[in-house]
Amino acid sequence: MLSLKNIGKRFGEHQILDGLSVEIPLTGITFIVGASGSGTSGLCRLAVGLLKPDAGEVSLFGERVDLMPERKLIEMRARAPYLVQGPALLDWLTLRENVALADPPSKSDGRADKALERLGLTEFSARKPPEVGPGIRKRAAIARALVLEPEVLLLDEPTTGLDKEAAGQVNDALALVREQGLGVALVSHDYAALRKLADRVVQVKDKKVGFNGSALDFLTAPH
Ligand SMILES: Nc1ncnc2c1ncn2[C@@H]1O[C@H](COP(=O)(O)OP(=O)(O)OP(=O)(O)O)[C@@H](O)[C@H]1O
Ligand SMILES: [Mg+2]
Repeated sequence: MLSLKNIGKRFGEHQILDGLSVEIPLTGITFIVGASGSGTSGLCRLAVGLLKPDAGEVSLFGERVDLMPERKLIEMRARAPYLVQGPALLDWLTLRENVALADPPSKSDGRADKALERLGLTEFSARKPPEVGPGIRKRAAIARALVLEPEVLLLDEPTTGLDKEAAGQVNDALALVREQGLGVALVSHDYAALRKLADRVVQVKDKKVGFNGSALDFLTAPH
């Protein structure tokens, strides 16, 4: 469960969130939607303690993120990794080496290979990012997060800027990790994907949460 209570956040003169409260059960796939600049990335960053609220409380897995010391935040982010928008891989390493970056040598026990396999990437593991398409690159970034053995994945616009085929590869990966029991929350503007994949929708609107409920209710709401 991700819980935000009465959140206020401003940058300089610009109040981006004001009195935002929401409880999001992190099972299945949750789409976080909102107009550009509405604060959707901010919500993700608040959830994992990359951003501190000016007011209110943030709890993840029942623990106060906004009060957490950095050492504990690192542990928290292994349970709920946040994949930022844009490129995430090092071009001069193979996909396997990129994924293994998340695997601490002290613990290394083939978790990188397992993560690649979970996402159907074994055949690409010796290739470097420029040698595969953007959909495979994003899948590898997701595989790297899986190495941490998380409970939940947070993704910021994982398909923005991708062509239809690449976006399809990413969306298939999200469906796959849901089947494997992970919760997924993603910021997205892709309504076709929302229709196909979303279990729940959270809409950020007017500095608050405008909607929080099932995807079916969201899609059939009159407005
Ligand atoms: N570090 C910062 N300093 C100043 N302003 C910021 C900062 N981070 C975000 N903002 C502003 O706060 C508002 C909300 O930002 P946020 O990144 O959460 O929006 P978003 O919903 O993710 O939008 P987008 O669709 O563009 O990704 C935007 O107007 C943005 O310009
Ligand atoms: Mg954003």
